[in-house]
Amino acid sequence: MVWYKNEVIKTLNCDYPIIQAGMAGGVTTPELVASVSNEGGMGTIGAGYLHPDELTEKIMAVQQSTSKTFGVNMFVPETPRYCSNQVTRARQLLQPYEQELQIKPREIPEMSETHFEEQVNTILKLHVPVCSFTFGVPDKTLVKELHKNGVKVIGTATTVEEAVINEQAGVDIITAQGSEAGGHRGTFHGSHDQGMIGTMSLVPQMVDEVGIPVLAAGGIMDERGIAASLMLGAQGVQMGTAFVTSLESGAKEQHKQAILQAKESDTTITSVFSGKPARGLENEFIKQMKPYQNELPDYPIQNELTKNLRKKASERNRPEWMSLWSGQSPRLSGKKYVSQIIKELVDGVERLYSNRGHKL
Ligand SMILES: Cc1cc2nc3c(=O)[nH]c(=O)nc-3n(C[C@H](O)[C@H](O)[C@H](O)COP(=O)(O)O)c2cc1C
Repeated sequence: MVWYKNEVIKTLNCDYPIIQAGMAGGVTTPELVASVSNEGGMGTIGAGYLHPDELTEKIMAVQQSTSKTFGVNMFVPETPRYCSNQVTRARQLLQPYEQELQIKPREIPEMSETHFEEQVNTILKLHVPVCSFTFGVPDKTLVKELHKNGVKVIGTATTVEEAVINEQAGVDIITAQGSEAGGHRGTFHGSHDQGMIGTMSLVPQMVDEVGIPVLAAGGIMDERGIAASLMLGAQGVQMGTAFVTSLESGAKEQHKQAILQAKESDTTITSVFSGKPARGLENEFIKQMKPYQNELPDYPIQNELTKNLRKKASERNRPEWMSLWSGQSPRLSGKKYVSQIIKELVDGVERLYSNRGHKL
């Protein structure tokens, strides 16, 4: 049996069902995305925070470096629930950090400006082959429009119920985001606590309930994670943290180093950076802000308020105040070229499937 011949590679038109997660915030350089695709996986541009002009640039740069399938990941816009008192409180709490970094408090830009529609138009105009979504479900009309233009659609779900909602919207594939996953939680239906289900529990229950392929995500870093996911019924994987430390990744050096040195117990779920729960390496900012977590405004307001602080913290080499997103398997990370990562994954799964060289 050939482990990679399945619906996912047929739908996405790639060699291996290994998807590099779209990671907003500068990680997914065109070099990273194109390298993953050139090696037979599928690279994804994290477009969440990108202005349409920047997205155009990135897509064109990827297209210049690969003729293979790649994707663009977008944030489904949401209406934040917050009040002015929360903004005042957040500003108060951020002040000492801003003072030390000598930056002005950040004004909140117009929240209607999420650029979502323009991002979609860019994807259609530039014939991007795959589009993935998180933080919500693309509506049926949008999915139809994407399909009409030949774009395949991947949704994100953290519960079986969310997977069913995605399927009803017409997406082609669903990413099951387990609680081990690094970065923001994709939960959009029900509470965030309810969406904290481990990959091992989430994947088989989701696979049983939906009629479309499922990708496993969360804590998968090597061939063991991929083989286990396939055994659970997933038809592929989406990996984030494993690519953050790759040589082609645009992650800040402090972020890469922090993951490379971290242990499985070093991550936590926090919403102090952005107003939305996310998994990252626990640091001073998270610890100091934790008591006030519930007093802060929702995403994307808090995200905007901390934007300059995070940027300056990186420039001034203060990793203790940076958002260091990571999944729960940082010990399995390595500073490697994408070609080596993919080769090790593919060779490793082959070895496990042929039952050679592993203590099964
Ligand atoms: C640095 C980082 C940024 C991320 N940004 C996004 C994003 O913009 N969109 C998205 O759908 N998922 C994002 N994720 C989550 C991934 O899609 C995926 O669920 C996660 O990386 C899987 O767990 P792992 O990190 O243990 O591989 C991010 C993950 C990381 C580590």
